[in-house]
Amino acid sequence: MPPTSDRPTSDPRVLLNQVTPHPPAKPSTRDPLTLHQRLPGYERTPLRVVPALADRLGIGALYVKDESVRLGLPAFKMLGASWASYRSIIRHTGIDPNGWDAIEDLAEIIQSHLPLTLATATDGNHGRAVARIARLLGLDAKVWVPIDMVKARIDAIYAEGATVTVVDGSYDDAVKVAAAAADDRTLVVSDTSWSGYETVPQWVIDGYSTLMFEIEDQEAELALPMATVVSAPMGVGALAVAMIAKFAEAKPRPVFIGGEPSDAACVLTAVESGEVVSIPGKHDTMMAGLNCGTVSPIAFPVLRDGLDAVVAFDDEWAEEAMRLLAAEGIVAGETGAASLATLLCLVDRRPDLRNQLNLGPNDTALVVVTEGATDPVNYDRIVGRSPASVEN
Ligand SMILES: Cc1ncc(COP(=O)(O)O)c(C=O)c1O
Repeated sequence: MPPTSDRPTSDPRVLLNQVTPHPPAKPSTRDPLTLHQRLPGYERTPLRVVPALADRLGIGALYVKDESVRLGLPAFKMLGASWASYRSIIRHTGIDPNGWDAIEDLAEIIQSHLPLTLATATDGNHGRAVARIARLLGLDAKVWVPIDMVKARIDAIYAEGATVTVVDGSYDDAVKVAAAAADDRTLVVSDTSWSGYETVPQWVIDGYSTLMFEIEDQEAELALPMATVVSAPMGVGALAVAMIAKFAEAKPRPVFIGGEPSDAACVLTAVESGEVVSIPGKHDTMMAGLNCGTVSPIAFPVLRDGLDAVVAFDDEWAEEAMRLLAAEGIVAGETGAASLATLLCLVDRRPDLRNQLNLGPNDTALVVVTEGATDPVNYDRIVGRSPASVEN
């Protein structure tokens, strides 16, 4: 029996961002998509229309972009990790980006430049994805993880052939250790930025554009009206920036809502104070992918100017969203459910904001399930079923 639950009752922190200018959309190319299409197992992920969840939210329609399986991994992160790794390798080696067709050919060309290591910190999915692209290309991978990472996620990175080092500290501490690893044989592929290290994290953001181009194509093919409200889950804010960069070009422009855990509300705190602020760890949330104490500095200006609302909420909303998605046959891990959880806590606890945030009966919302069940034990505990039984 699935655990029955009353609706969550904790109030979210909501920051309405009405005064700042909205940045224009940033044109992106389909170059990352062309790379992704050459990776093993590329398939467009589903865009699901889920009437039952739209009813639960009290809106007209809900689209769920389901990233629970992407390029053979249980999260969307390979999109950014592969593009940023690829661009970093091209820059480092000087090899001709047009001189290969299949990924095996690229691996062959890179041989003469070995040894080469890809290095990163991670709160789970990004590191696993960097390790995967390193493996595909015959490179080494070194990944640093925070001390509170669950074993299943560490094992998954290790299984990609990476060296995994647990840092006695938070994700932010792991980022500092990984940054120091850069040398002439070690390329740091981080999804967050710091002073003097901005190009690679921008490539990560550019890599996420594939997800948005797919949604655009799927909406067109299915003759679906475009979403009037877009919900982005936020860790360091890179995915939210990619979503804003693409969908801000829609007319009318949708409302953008960013969601993050109460305990790691680094975007809300930064937007409120007008500057990047670090929230010291340890952050206590099971939304591991969003467990970041510092917004990426290159993401901050786009989020400050582009988000209409920032919402920080407790884990119980993610749990509720996981169960609701499971009831519709969609496997979403704790972080993966955060995009829906953001809307749930708003409609339940802040109905006064429905009109302002395009959460009315004629609105259409887009959420991204960014991750499948990367901690199966916790998934079972929350949903009361194994991920495999949900899929069937
Ligand atoms: C599954 C998942 N969803 C969302 C995010 C948030 O992305 P970002 O850190 O770019 O805000 C992450 C980050 O690691 C993640 O792993």
